[in-house]
Amino acid sequence: MFEVTLAELEDDPYPILAKMRANEPVCWVPALQMFFVTRWDDVATVEDNPELFTAATEPSFLARTLGVNMLTLDPPKLDRLRSMMLPPFKAGGRSGEFAKHELKDMADELLDQVEFNREAGSGASFDLISSYAQLLSAGSLARVLGLDHHGFAQMWDWCTGLVTDLANFEDDPELAAIGTKTKEELGAALDEAIKQSRTNPGNSAIDAFLANGATPEEVLNNVRLMISGGINEPCEAIGLVTWTLLTRPDLRQRVAKEPNKMARLVEEVLRVHCPVGTVTRQATEDTELGGVAIPKGALVSGILRSINRDESHWDNPDEIDLDRRQGPHAAFALGAHRCLGEWLGRQVVRQGVERLFARFPDLMLDPSHEVTNTGFEFRGPPELWVTP
Ligand code: HEM
Repeated sequence: MFEVTLAELEDDPYPILAKMRANEPVCWVPALQMFFVTRWDDVATVEDNPELFTAATEPSFLARTLGVNMLTLDPPKLDRLRSMMLPPFKAGGRSGEFAKHELKDMADELLDQVEFNREAGSGASFDLISSYAQLLSAGSLARVLGLDHHGFAQMWDWCTGLVTDLANFEDDPELAAIGTKTKEELGAALDEAIKQSRTNPGNSAIDAFLANGATPEEVLNNVRLMISGGINEPCEAIGLVTWTLLTRPDLRQRVAKEPNKMARLVEEVLRVHCPVGTVTRQATEDTELGGVAIPKGALVSGILRSINRDESHWDNPDEIDLDRRQGPHAAFALGAHRCLGEWLGRQVVRQGVERLFARFPDLMLDPSHEVTNTGFEFRGPPELWVTP
């Protein structure tokens, strides 16, 4: 048993996770009422054995809030959904076309707006997260899905509405009302997109889901999942990569000299700072993991944030090393639920940061705003104030 509070984990999880890995790599955490699994090999076992560690948890907050979706199913039901929904998120699908021909312009247009607002305002620093990273991240997914005519800010609002609903563990009626309103608005937008696709199909990801055989309900529930999960993460990662470059002049110089190292930097930042911290599963029978008895029905949390720094798996795990040869990391998870938007997410983060530094080559942190990375389940800087 390991006594720790959620607040302690949200503040600075890394020393706590290092202690768990060293002393009790599979441990019961009373404050969260779940087992934490903190070493690479044990998390791989959890992810590789869905018949023992199911994603279809009971009860499922995710299924209750978003409707049954791929993250609430195990193979083979999961495989059917992924085979219909993965193609547009690969390089050969809509995401590839977007990343090659449209993403750079989208980033540049948002940066034009940042400059315009700055000049119209005080002309000093700006918060990179709210004025750029959120909109680029929301806009990218909106464009790929074919929902961008609703506006990037609308997409961001749908994302925060769904996340608010997902975090409403205490059934607060005000928060529930935000969830209901979001689902009504998004539902109407998806009805329209599905109708349009039936009469005059285009090349969006939603067109591809339908062409691949997805039902309207499958589209609705899984697009909710994509919007609730696929916008905050690239946004946090843009914040984390930018913050790394602004606080590590050695890495900044290296990337300036060797621009092809930017892709490596993104991977290393994702490994070391891991925007999504955990995957949650449930034991389907009494079992054992790493020598610890796990009773049927227990929730088991695979801590990606820990295994990405597991010293039995990585050399110098806490170091961002642009020449590292080991990989891959676990920031997009390991098993059947490996991130659907991984390819797109990487593109948005890399190109987003590249365009930012192309526009503002002298970018610096604004010292009057302290940067604090917070969170355990999701972690990144909520604000990042910079001066051009
Ligand atoms: C840097 C960006 C991203 C990170 C770090 C990230 C991370 C992750 C992780 C760790 C999982 C596994 C969750 C679990 O098993 O409980 C996941 C799943 C998922 N991600 Fe991402 N993600 C990112 C971007 C995106 C984007 C852009 C999309 C857009 C579609 C997306 C859509 C999804 C979906 C639909 C799943 C569920 C897959 C399944 O259940 O089979 N993600 N992501």
